[in-house]
Amino acid sequence: AVETTLQGAMPFPMGAAVNISLLKNNSDYRNLVVKEFNSVTAENAMKFASVHPSKDVYNFADADYLVDFARLNGKRVHGHTLNWYKSLPDWVNNFQGTTADWENLLKTHIQTVVGHFKGKIVSWDVVNEAINEDGTMRNSIWVQKLGADYIGRAFQYAHEADPGALLFYNDYGHEFGPTKRTAILNLVNSLKIKGIPIDGIGLQMHTRVTQSDDNLINAINLAAATGLKIHLSELDIALNPENNQTLTFTAALGAQQAAKYKTIVKAYNAIPKNQQFGITTWNVTDADSWIPTNYNRPDWPLPFDAQYQKKAAYQAILDAIK
Ligand code: G3I
Repeated sequence: AVETTLQGAMPFPMGAAVNISLLKNNSDYRNLVVKEFNSVTAENAMKFASVHPSKDVYNFADADYLVDFARLNGKRVHGHTLNWYKSLPDWVNNFQGTTADWENLLKTHIQTVVGHFKGKIVSWDVVNEAINEDGTMRNSIWVQKLGADYIGRAFQYAHEADPGALLFYNDYGHEFGPTKRTAILNLVNSLKIKGIPIDGIGLQMHTRVTQSDDNLINAINLAAATGLKIHLSELDIALNPENNQTLTFTAALGAQQAAKYKTIVKAYNAIPKNQQFGITTWNVTDADSWIPTNYNRPDWPLPFDAQYQKKAAYQAILDAIK
């Protein structure tokens, strides 16, 4: 019998955020990505500071490596991200110029990066995390220099550079409740009404085991009500949001996490098929998750454990589509 894999079993693409150094140097990691997933997102390699380290210097080496890996192994590549307030190189944070100079900086960056990957990357997170938790516009360097309308222009610049690419607005916290979610959906709907080329919404879904099922289901259904494609773009489920330094993983915690994965995947499976862009987990296993490093705590957010073995969450994802 053919072994079950996520990419083989699921009715929509299954992706993971990939670390290029692990992909190059760790064959267990690489083999797991090849076997289980049919879509990849660069965890960091396509961000502004990675690909555009100084004003007239672009460095696509790691991003090209991922695109070549994907081509050789038949994976879709989702691009992340053209515009964010974080992971900017010093030269952008220190840039001095007129509004026109900033506009040119934004446009040149987007069009150089999208143009470089034209025809190789099917979709982009064009703008990432522009909304605050209280629903206001985030006070990023882009808003300060260009005003909030830069968001629509970022989509237009990306569309000009690759008219075939699907363009997403990507953010976290749809599941926190109505405040942030409504602001995000209002932004996206206003872009649509203005005729801005936006194809989809990325719901990051960096969530936690204590989040209510209602919030998770509402997040997915209300986003789908826009009619746009929906990407669960950075899914992980933290087990230790309270930062307990001595917490250990138990089967009971694993079962709670599995139930939450099932809730999310079941809700996603129920939206219209033509809106199911796919589900991407943020990282591959508990060993390479950003959460323990970023928050300096033990945690186990992913469907594969630190020994690259399937957890209860893995089976729950499969069960969710039955
Ligand atoms: O590689 C350098 C290393 O050379 C240096 O010594 C070290 C010291 O700070 O930094 C290392 O770079 C870090 C990089 O991750 C690689 O580990 C950066 O500091 C760190 O900021 C970076 O964090 C990434 C973060 O985005 C910021 O770009 C995480 O890996 C990545 O998982 C995270 O991903 C984000 C998504 O892009 C957007 N949504 C939220 C998500 C999680 O925060």
